[in-house]
Amino acid sequence: MAILVTGGAGYIGSHTVIELLEKNEEVIIVDSFINSKPEALNRIRQIANKDFKFYQMDICDKDNLRKVFEENDIECIIHFAGLKAVGESVKLPIEYYKNNIISTLVLIDLMKEFKVKNIIFSSSATVYGVQEIVPIKEDASLSATNPYGRTKLFIEYILKDLYVADKSFNIALLRYFNPIGAHPSGLIGEDPNGIPNNLCPYITQVAIGKLPYLNVFGNDYNTHDGTGVRDYIHVCDLAHGHLCALNKLRENPGLVIYNLGTGVGYSVLDILHAFNKAVGRDLPYKIVDRRPGDIATCYADPTKAYKEMGFKTEKTLDDMARDSWNWQKNNPNGLN
Ligand code: NAD
Ligand code: WQD
Repeated sequence: MAILVTGGAGYIGSHTVIELLEKNEEVIIVDSFINSKPEALNRIRQIANKDFKFYQMDICDKDNLRKVFEENDIECIIHFAGLKAVGESVKLPIEYYKNNIISTLVLIDLMKEFKVKNIIFSSSATVYGVQEIVPIKEDASLSATNPYGRTKLFIEYILKDLYVADKSFNIALLRYFNPIGAHPSGLIGEDPNGIPNNLCPYITQVAIGKLPYLNVFGNDYNTHDGTGVRDYIHVCDLAHGHLCALNKLRENPGLVIYNLGTGVGYSVLDILHAFNKAVGRDLPYKIVDRRPGDIATCYADPTKAYKEMGFKTEKTLDDMARDSWNWQKNNPNGLN
């Protein structure tokens, strides 16, 4: 039986597909390329030296997506497809609600129709909103501060309600912290359109000379050096977390929720220093005002994912910086 990966051409999806292929899983990718490039699929084949089925479609289109369910025997869905830029979601909230929520409802309808019982959903640490207590455990309070975050929160509630109504489903809600890094081959990595919003692609674009300097958003937070602290996780470790979740779902656990993070918080300046080391020179930066909506500190308590599904991260911050930089310098224009 196959694993259906929605959004499998994207950043986290492509790394996860490689993990799946390396474990000899049968993979079907569905992607519209709304935020990725067809070349990602060639790169996946090149790295894994294995093939998979691919359908180009918008998964909000139920009639089209039904064909995928008719033509394949699907064991589990790993649902990455979604729009993910916080700032854009504030400007285009309805597009975010439509794309992220309708796609998930369509998937659930087809799961019911074709009796597919297993789904792994890409949630986010953003569902924890503003927390006073770190590290954050899975039973912390939930809230969202922007439309993107609300789509993640609503989808979590939709999947929880589905499970309450029908206990035959197995559902994993994976709350990712801050994924960075790239495949060590340098063939795939994060490939943002335009000026990056997130810290690491911004730094690597400074390093290749596309951007003049890094803006450090505030150095007056209550953290060890005043800059914001986050839980950065190597995308290959994160990808491996999906294999752990797949194995967990094969034990019929019902609904499970896990943080996928390292449990270690690094500041913006810690990250910059790691990239300086990887690049071999000091990258220019300026301290500017805080970015509205940012919080001081956010990192995971990763204990539950370790205890219940054996997930633990292997890669260091230096690995993350080295692999991000390797990807960026080999692909200065991403996959264009
Ligand atoms: P990405 O944009 O690189 O990948 C998402 C993929 O989904 C893209 O290839 C895009 O083309 C595809 N897609 C989007 N809407 C689609 C639709 N309606 N039909 C078909 N394909 C569609 O993003 P990513 O960083 O790989 O994130 C994957 C998932 O993880 C997303 O749901 C995101 O919200 C979530 N997440 C990401 C982060 C992060 O920082 N990258 C953190 C937490 C959670
Ligand atoms: C990290 C740190 C910034 C850019 C976002 C989403 C979250 C999740 C992951 C999907 C912060 C600082 C950043 C820059 C900076 N995505 N920074 N200069 O905000 O933790 O999380 O991505 O679910 O939902 O909100 O990540 O990479 O934007 O910022 O100083 O140019 O770097 O202030 O402290 P964030 P980020």
